[in-house]
Amino acid sequence: MKDKLTIKAKKEGYKARSAYKLLQLNNKYNLIKKGDEVLDLGCWPGSWLQVCWKTGCECIGVDLRKTNLRLSNIKTYQLDVFSDKFFEVINEKFDVVLSDMAPNTSGNIEIDQFKSYELSERAFEIAKKLLKENGNFLVKIFQSEDANELLNKMRKYFKFVKSTKPVSSKKGSKEIYFMGVGFIVG
Ligand SMILES: C[S@@+](CC[C@H](N)C(=O)[O-])C[C@H]1O[C@@H](n2cnc3c(N)ncnc32)[C@H](O)[C@@H]1O
Repeated sequence: MKDKLTIKAKKEGYKARSAYKLLQLNNKYNLIKKGDEVLDLGCWPGSWLQVCWKTGCECIGVDLRKTNLRLSNIKTYQLDVFSDKFFEVINEKFDVVLSDMAPNTSGNIEIDQFKSYELSERAFEIAKKLLKENGNFLVKIFQSEDANELLNKMRKYFKFVKSTKPVSSKKGSKEIYFMGVGFIVG
């Protein structure tokens, strides 16, 4: 049975229910705003890009899968974030880096946590290279003891760091989001 948010997303024209996670976090923390240049890692099918577009941002989205979204000021690339070519393709600076990347789950919790940790570490590496001074970073990670290591590493690079879970995350979901506000250029 489809849950309420999936039905609401369909009605409101969003590609996925994930849209409400970004909307809720943004209402609370003001991570993206009109005029921002945003990099969205793991953008398929495109609901976070839709939220950014409605907010008035210019976006680049990256995903392993091809994202079919035709909106002004939104450009997407089918690209692996671990690709050697990544920084050749994406080499501009951004006000905000978002990552909702998730691995294909295997059913083995430890393997899935590890893969999610690797993806979020990579997102952090990308954010450190491509964020403008004072920029913001939001990254999804599956909860684990190691996950807190990433949060601790983020503390050195942002004025404010927080771990949060949007109310629209599915019940029982192990995902949490780490937020870094106010990037400090080293
Ligand atoms: C939960 S979905 C993102 C949903 C998206 N935020 C939205 O609102 O439409 C996670 C995405 O991460 C992508 N992903 C996983 N590993 C990746 C990688 N190595 N490089 C790029 N994208 C990756 C997957 O292909 C998947 O589409």
